[in-house]
Amino acid sequence: MEVTQAIQSRRSIGQMKQDPVPRGLVEEVLESAVHAPNHKITEPWRFHVFTGKGRGELARARAEVARIQAEVEGEEEEFAAGRISRERKKAFRAPVVIAVISRGGRDEIETLENYAACAAAVQNMQLTAHSLGLATIWRTGPVAYHPYMRDFLGLEDGDRIVAHLYLGYADVGERSRRREPASSRTVWHEG
Ligand SMILES: Cc1cc2nc3c(=O)[nH]c(=O)nc-3n(C[C@H](O)[C@H](O)[C@H](O)COP(=O)(O)O)c2cc1C
Repeated sequence: MEVTQAIQSRRSIGQMKQDPVPRGLVEEVLESAVHAPNHKITEPWRFHVFTGKGRGELARARAEVARIQAEVEGEEEEFAAGRISRERKKAFRAPVVIAVISRGGRDEIETLENYAACAAAVQNMQLTAHSLGLATIWRTGPVAYHPYMRDFLGLEDGDRIVAHLYLGYADVGERSRRREPASSRTVWHEG
């Protein structure tokens, strides 16, 4: 698939089949990430791949975050139980979930640029997956960013969660995309 075609036809797809993704394809997606530009060649990306029954580990972590959040918010037990159960299930929305982490840098700018490099890496992953006939969705949110999730993934100070990238085979048809043209966001300086 042409790069421009891949860029334009990629869509975030949340609804996926449970069909397993061959490990070789997941590895191809991961390999594409490390070709992203990165300043001073810090190679700041780290990945945790949850697949098959391995998603249970992520599910337990999500459930524990929900339990902590419910406790902090003083939520009633009945509601908390529903919340915990919903969070647990979210780990199984795709056959593969890849947590992408950006390592902290030696100073604030390097940390910022490491994150930028990892965002480029995630886009590489999404485009590669798309060209392989796989669907992706980049997810974050309060559960992904929670301190418990950071500890679970072994993050150190300065490290950042970039994405929980869900990967699998689409269970929905094509979606259209609305974007304002670049011209509406661009100022040209042409002398
Ligand atoms: C940093 C970041 C975080 C995102 N987090 C979520 C999320 O938590 N849940 C979600 O449904 N989509 C999330 N997305 C995906 C966007 O919703 C999606 O890219 C947007 O709707 C545009 O759709 P498209 O990717 O098909 O062009 C995230 C995207 C980025 C870049």
